[in-house]
Amino acid sequence: MLSYQGCFAGGTVLRLAKDLAENNDGARVLVVCVEFNVKYFRGHNETHLDSLIGQAILGDGAAALIIGSNPNTLLERPLFEIVSTSQIILPNSDGAIEGHLRELGLTFHLKEYVQTLIADNIGKILEEEFSPLGISDWNSLYWITHPGGHAILNQIEAKLDLKRDKLRASRHVLSEYGNMSSACVLFILDEMRKKSLEEGKSTTGEGLEWGVLFGFGPGLTVETVVLLSVSTE
Ligand SMILES: CC(C)(COP(=O)(O)OP(=O)(O)OC[C@H]1O[C@@H](n2cnc3c(N)ncnc32)[C@H](O)[C@@H]1OP(=O)(O)O)[C@@H](O)C(=O)NCCC(=O)NCCS
Repeated sequence: MLSYQGCFAGGTVLRLAKDLAENNDGARVLVVCVEFNVKYFRGHNETHLDSLIGQAILGDGAAALIIGSNPNTLLERPLFEIVSTSQIILPNSDGAIEGHLRELGLTFHLKEYVQTLIADNIGKILEEEFSPLGISDWNSLYWITHPGGHAILNQIEAKLDLKRDKLRASRHVLSEYGNMSSACVLFILDEMRKKSLEEGKSTTGEGLEWGVLFGFGPGLTVETVVLLSVSTE
């Protein structure tokens, strides 16, 4: 059980489950992300605007998936493949996003520069993960980005010159449910593969082969998961 990790944990659980599944022959790992962000709810305080922002953008949600390796294709239908995973803490990000467990409950702290910090570092992270694969066009990927807030999505989009539809699934989940912390990226994966099927795309990743999943949260921690889609046929 991983408690009080924060919003990046959707990536963390995929990283740990991949490790468990690959190193225990035949294992199938049930991953469950349960977030009840209502725990941040408290009275408005004008000196803690970030607490109010947290209450405004966070939502409750839960999602589950099963991770395994060497699928038995007679019985199992994989939806995505996890190729590699990594976790880093961004330089000079101390205090950018924090949660404090106090007598009054869990408090939420958020600096205004979170979105800039993420956008300024994301290109370098992508280069590290994708240059060994010979990929440098970020529009050639499908995107599963933790939607911490719409400003984060906007700044990533602008910084990397992403086409408007690249973050569609992330924006959709944010607008429907709010920021459900770790559960968001699992909702976005589901949204992406459903929409891909609906629109007759050839793969679960909007017809594309390679994808990236990003979790952002306290630290400021970034979890990066390199994904391959599978055929929808
Ligand atoms: C919070 C958010 C949704 C508000 O978006 P918006 O409605 O478009 O408004 P703005 O970004 O222009 O901000 C509105 C006001 O809130 C203030 N504000 C924004 N973020 C703030 C923060 N973290 N702390 C204090 N004030 C903040 C702005 O300074 C602005 O104040 P002003 O009206 O006096 O100029 C957006 O800024 C966002 O997505 N932020 C990122 C959230 C985040 O870091 N999430 C991480 C969790 S994983």
